Amino acid sequence: MKSVLLTAGQVVFTLALYVVGAMVLGLALFPAAMLFASTWDQTAAWPQWQHVLALCMAGAAGYFVFGFSLIAVVSILRIALGLQLKEGTYAMFSWGAIRWMLTNALQLIVWTFFGQFILLTPFAALLYRLMGAKLGTNVQINSSYCADLSLLEIGDGAVIGGHATVIAHAFERKGLVLKRVKIGKQVVVGLNAVILPGVEIGDRAIIAAGAVVPKFTKIEPGTIYVSREHEVHRPEVKSA
Ligand SMILES: CC(C)(COP(=O)(O)OP(=O)(O)OC[C@H]1O[C@@H](n2cnc3c(N)ncnc32)[C@H](O)[C@@H]1OP(=O)(O)O)[C@@H](O)C(=O)NCCC(=O)NCCS
Repeated sequence: MKSVLLTAGQVVFTLALYVVGAMVLGLALFPAAMLFASTWDQTAAWPQWQHVLALCMAGAAGYFVFGFSLIAVVSILRIALGLQLKEGTYAMFSWGAIRWMLTNALQLIVWTFFGQFILLTPFAALLYRLMGAKLGTNVQINSSYCADLSLLEIGDGAVIGGHATVIAHAFERKGLVLKRVKIGKQVVVGLNAVILPGVEIGDRAIIAAGAVVPKFTKIEPGTIYVSREHEVHRPEVKSA
């Protein structure tokens, strides 16, 4: 019975997220739709091929207008709703966990619809900042797999490589654990690396491509971190 109620709760929450998503997307589409409608009006009397070409241009330009509107709408909503994550351990159906889901859902909408156009541009760093991350100067971001941005700090000149995962959360038996991730100055997080909650990386360190940095690991400045190869065997892990 308890699991049925939990599933029903998840379905209701998911549907509520879809409603929020539809409203966010609708608002972000509005300026692009206005651009398209106004182009339609202004070119209606043109020869047909010119009219169609103008509409194609307006539609394509509208996509970029939509993308930047989406960043604006999501950022305003995050700030208006006070969606600033706080370190701690939260039960699955607590306000802390719901706030976490909502925050990451908003960010996911941007990455899904516009992310590929802003990676490795200053707009990726801008989005990170607007979503609450503390970023130094000249940070290069080539990954859309970073979550929990209001619990992320990245120092000057750091590079986040392609498809690197940087997350400040872990779902564990005790619930949702949130712990700040700190990436120092001039750090390189390699392609496909995985950085887990509570990790602190010292200045100028390099995280090897594909390395997995376990939660709460502290990496000394200037070192190269490569994944540990040994397996962890603990009684509670074996019996899980
Ligand atoms: C880890 C890294 C810094 C090592 O570079 P390097 O100092 O030039 O060292 P080498 O390539 O000579 O390799 C040294 C050793 O590390 C091993 N190694 C290199 N990269 C590794 C990786 N990603 N994972 C595991 N081992 C690695 C090599 O096999 C070699 O082992 P060996 O001494 O037993 O032969 C580099 O391979 C790397 O992963 N850089 C990240 C680049 C990146 O992804 N940037 C962001 C996206 S562009």
